[in-house]
Amino acid sequence: ENNTAIVLAAGQGKRMQSKIQKQFLEIQGYPVLYYSLRCFQESPLIENIILVTGEEMVSYCKEEIVDKYGFTKVTNVIAGGKERYDSVYAGLCACSEIPCDYVFIHDGARPFITEEMLERGLERTRKTGACVLGMPSKDTVKLADKNAFVESTPERNYVWTVQTPQIFLYSLIKTAHDKIRRKDMSNITDDAMVIEQETGVKVALAKGSYQNIKITTPEDLWIAEAFLRSEKM
Ligand code: CTP
Ligand code: MG
Repeated sequence: ENNTAIVLAAGQGKRMQSKIQKQFLEIQGYPVLYYSLRCFQESPLIENIILVTGEEMVSYCKEEIVDKYGFTKVTNVIAGGKERYDSVYAGLCACSEIPCDYVFIHDGARPFITEEMLERGLERTRKTGACVLGMPSKDTVKLADKNAFVESTPERNYVWTVQTPQIFLYSLIKTAHDKIRRKDMSNITDDAMVIEQETGVKVALAKGSYQNIKITTPEDLWIAEAFLRSEKM
């Protein structure tokens, strides 16, 4: 089995409102992006890593991240696109040049993944073709209408919030992306939606963790620092 991680780091990080893009900000002495790359580098489940970043950051990533920290599994550092799904597609196309059975699509802005999560997700994907990590929602979720009135309340036991990695049989996700790219993709916010809309395959959910946060707004950096400090104790 040859599995590839596509690590996404081509976003602008608008909600972080920082001069440096959030994936390159340091927490406990290392860039946010370093932590997930280290997990994939050390995982026996992963053969190759494709790092997707902004065109202007490709050489920075090669020198200041891949070479500096010795991430020898990174075979390609490539330019992403305007939307997240464009960056994913660039990664999927780069995969076609290397042997690839399963692909782990991961947000570089999620530093706290672990080997156990990769194992749980891959095990499920081997059976189903598609699995996303997530956690049962702690909050009750309301579906709203356009005027901010409650439309309905899904039963909380069945509400999960999803994370990455999202893991797929490579041929399945590549074909689904090829198809959906000819259509309107403006509502697509994760990779599972591409499978839901373009294939008959049911996407499985596996447990990630409540620590597997996406660094999105400034307070997420305090939370991330606290997680790392508590690990050192
Ligand atoms: N991403 C990407 N290419 C894009 C947009 C996003 O590779 N065109 C990546 C981000 O770098 C991040 C992940 O997808 O690792 C999740 O996206 P998000 O949290 O939305 O990051 P940003 O788009 O950078 O942030 P914002 O939406 O606040 O601008
Ligand atoms: Mg975004």
